[in-house]
Amino acid sequence: MYFKFPENFMFGAASSACQIESACKEGGKGEDVHEHYFSLYPEKYLNDDPNEGADFYHKYPEDIKMMKELGIKCFRFSISWSRIYPNGPDEVCQAGLDYYADLIDKLIEAGITPFFDLWHCDLPYWVIERNALLNPEFVDWFGAYAETCFRAFGDKVAYWSTINEPNVNVMAAYAWGSTAPFMKDMKLAMQANHIAVLAHYRAVKIFRELGCKGKIGVVVHIQLTYAPSMDMKDQEAAERDMSFYSTWWTDSMLKGYYPKNLMDYPYIADLLPEGWEKDLKENFIESDFLGINYYSSYIVGYAEDGKLDYEIVTGDKLPKDDYGFTINPQGMYDTIMEMQKRHPGLELIITENGIGRKRTGNYEEELDDDYRINYLREHLRAVARAVEAGAPVTGYLHWSIMDTTELYGGGYSILFGLTQVRFDKPDKQRIPRKSWYYYQKIIAEKAVN
Ligand code: NOJ
Repeated sequence: MYFKFPENFMFGAASSACQIESACKEGGKGEDVHEHYFSLYPEKYLNDDPNEGADFYHKYPEDIKMMKELGIKCFRFSISWSRIYPNGPDEVCQAGLDYYADLIDKLIEAGITPFFDLWHCDLPYWVIERNALLNPEFVDWFGAYAETCFRAFGDKVAYWSTINEPNVNVMAAYAWGSTAPFMKDMKLAMQANHIAVLAHYRAVKIFRELGCKGKIGVVVHIQLTYAPSMDMKDQEAAERDMSFYSTWWTDSMLKGYYPKNLMDYPYIADLLPEGWEKDLKENFIESDFLGINYYSSYIVGYAEDGKLDYEIVTGDKLPKDDYGFTINPQGMYDTIMEMQKRHPGLELIITENGIGRKRTGNYEEELDDDYRINYLREHLRAVARAVEAGAPVTGYLHWSIMDTTELYGGGYSILFGLTQVRFDKPDKQRIPRKSWYYYQKIIAEKAVN
């Protein structure tokens, strides 16, 4: 099998500030949510200090050289809000702006398109102190932060994402209690989600008003759900599950409404804040693309006693990676097709896809990652098939350019990197894994076989 990608297809890689920057106390940065909670509950982060990571903050010139050698044409990264607004909503830190300005310039000099997220899982702690997404003022703070970034870099950054994985990010923090501030309350989560939707609209509106040159969108973790049978009850349960984990956000952020199949479901509408309909109607604004983070798919069917969020995963025979994500390359193709159907004409970018492997501690052996090569091959074949079938997918960004810290309880013990980071060495040396060379060849040939 041989699949050729279009000439201008954008191969790239992704990462985020709080997962690789480190240097938490430098450049005037304020405390962020993870640093704060790490100091209180280190065990929730497997004792892995976010400050002791890959040190991209200092090593980015060297990393960009490696990216150029790899041949990627796009690097997705995030701006750390607490580097730009360290202490509160009124004071901008010039050193933070200078840092990202240089990073962006160096990427452009290397021929790499910058793709920046405004918020990738790392709220400043002052936002948490002010009740974060449960405070409607969040929309103003986020808007002001977005405006500062657009004014500073709006003419250089080609792709902006407002929020990375609002679905996982907000639900993990407010509904599942698995990431800071560790809350478990569905009503609070749905209210926080609503504020995230409004914050997305606000940033897009400002972007348009300023006439920025690039494109703006949102990145959603799409968890594809299959039904185990043709039975209508199973079909509906699978559809609800997909709405609950994914299309709640794609529909609201990109189309301006919450999915009907959930709104018709008992109790869901009651979880939303008063005035939600008016909020959506008055503030909705179109985006330019949808970023798809695709890792896994599930098979979800109807269960007699199943509540929406506990519907039974049946017939789940899919293999899993060490992080617990199911592995299903066909799901990549199906996800793209599903999103194309739901958002006709909208540009789609695979903003994340990758495989996590448990750290063994044997750095030599961990360079040999045939499992990642297989994963990459199968998922890229699926992307290529979707492009051939006419889907408007313009890029694929692998997660991750290098080993990171995982925020959802994986710490430095789950490795996603094409590049190994020697966390044991003071200089955090980078070493390309076998998959790095494999991806380099794919990028050079613009083909996968
Ligand atoms: C998606 C998130 O955006 C990223 O932060 C995380 O590390 C990867 N998934 C892998 O879990």
